[in-house]
Amino acid sequence: MKIFLDTANISEIRKANDLGILDGVTTNPTLIAKEASHGTFKEIVLEILKTVNGPVSLEVTSLDSSGMVEEALDLAKLGDNVVIKVPLTSEGLKTMKKLKEKGIKTNATLIFTSNQGLLAAKAGASYVSPFVGRLDDISEYGMKIVDDLKTVFNNYNFKTEIIVASVRHPIHVYEASLIGADIVTMPYQVLEKLIMHPKTDEGIERFLEDWKKVKH
Ligand code: G3P
Repeated sequence: MKIFLDTANISEIRKANDLGILDGVTTNPTLIAKEASHGTFKEIVLEILKTVNGPVSLEVTSLDSSGMVEEALDLAKLGDNVVIKVPLTSEGLKTMKKLKEKGIKTNATLIFTSNQGLLAAKAGASYVSPFVGRLDDISEYGMKIVDDLKTVFNNYNFKTEIIVASVRHPIHVYEASLIGADIVTMPYQVLEKLIMHPKTDEGIERFLEDWKKVKH
């Protein structure tokens, strides 16, 4: 399973990179806005693109397809690893198809049903991003759509990869890995929680105490 960071924060990206397990990054307008004090949109994005050795999703904000395509063409010029994040709307679907024809990868975002994911795959999206946390927020079982999409893509041999998004805690990662999701994109705080266990810390402390008793 590939691990992406869902952030535009460069220091978090550097820390995850140093761990040697970072496969890519996803951003959205909200995450970019959080980093506004660090520079312009372009400055922030260029720093991310040169730091990450893998796909980086950048979201368009136009609502019509011609605007989305125009934005996508500009964003794609920023780096070879740019993936264009496009919302799953009628205009978004048209955009995914047009960008596929131009050889530009897309990530269909704001996916809340399996059928939306199916349409994105048919339109040629490289990735679909089901938002599991936001579904959990409204008392639906978000991970069900990941399981369903896995079945649908297998049924029809779609090459579209599933990015589990809107991840809030380690259980989301655990469930996604059991389902066999291609990618999980997570906040840095969730990545930290995957590493830590109190019994690991307690074990290290005990070993170090006992090691002091050994004659060298
Ligand atoms: O990047 C999209 C998604 O992961 C957003 O997550 O926590 O705002 O629902 P969240």
